[in-house]
Amino acid sequence: MSELNNIVLKILENGKGILAADESTATMTKRLEGVNVNSTPENRLLFRETLFSSSSMTKCIGGVILYDETIKQDSSKKKSIAKLISEMGSAPGIKVDTGAKVLAGSPDEKITEGLDGLRERLKDYYKLGARFTKWRGVYNIAKNYPSKLSIHSNAHALARYSALVQECNMVPIVEPEVLMDGEHSAQDCYEKTSEVIKRCFDELILHKVDLKGIILKPNMILAGNKSGEKISNDEIAKLTLKCLESSVPSEVPGIAFLSGGQSELEATENLNLINKHNNTNFIMSYSYGRALQQSALKFWSKDTKNIEGTQKIFNHRAKMNTLAAQGKWSKDLEN
Ligand code: 13P
Repeated sequence: MSELNNIVLKILENGKGILAADESTATMTKRLEGVNVNSTPENRLLFRETLFSSSSMTKCIGGVILYDETIKQDSSKKKSIAKLISEMGSAPGIKVDTGAKVLAGSPDEKITEGLDGLRERLKDYYKLGARFTKWRGVYNIAKNYPSKLSIHSNAHALARYSALVQECNMVPIVEPEVLMDGEHSAQDCYEKTSEVIKRCFDELILHKVDLKGIILKPNMILAGNKSGEKISNDEIAKLTLKCLESSVPSEVPGIAFLSGGQSELEATENLNLINKHNNTNFIMSYSYGRALQQSALKFWSKDTKNIEGTQKIFNHRAKMNTLAAQGKWSKDLEN
């Protein structure tokens, strides 16, 4: 088994998932100001260190995606954040794209940047302790979108990024996120997501990426949040599985969903149903940002010194999602 495949299997073993704590400073500022906390480097670190030293890091969180600022910070115990995470038994990861910018030729769409100088940055991140990475391509659904241009150019960037990451002995998370914002139906989401993912794999194969050494991070198949369409959680799980079964090559070991604006409970319930219905060999787990942190952040914002209380809330969410990643979650466990 390849070294990269081992890293994937270790991150996702026994229902473990990934904590996406890689919000850029701008996004983290929005999150903190949303709960009336000043966005300083110290506060960003304090909240994140609180999560990274929680007991669920050992049992539930196989990997943490960090932002550039965080991977270079030291914990209150004067050790690097990457070291803190690996000592908890989890793998440190790093977001390496530099954000989604307006796509020339189709200004209502985005292209993710960050390839220039990436090889050198990856070497630095490896030295800082990172063993996996993330790059997010983003697509919106509307009448003529996502366009072929956006589908092709983002897939190309994701593949070039993945090849460079594997060259540096790290596992790339490949994240093509089809947004839930919009008036589209679940069927539209199914069709567009399938097209986007298929194109990503065409490019990954062209760029000689070892598919056994990647984690795919897709969206679930949902109706647009302004569509008014009501679709059951069971239907979401079935459509999501149908999409992935037909668009992801069987060599891929693991799929870790983004939460994408779903509530904490929805993200857990849908993941649980996906695993209940899963007849594939793919590990289906989570790589959640908001759906793992929202309640913990809200609680912490009221008393930033209450580390234990914040960790209790985070541990609960991590545990619920790890159960869901094994199809063992039920609503009564929430109380
Ligand atoms: P959400 O789970 O909040 O969508 O964040 C996951 C992520 O990493 C988006 O890039």
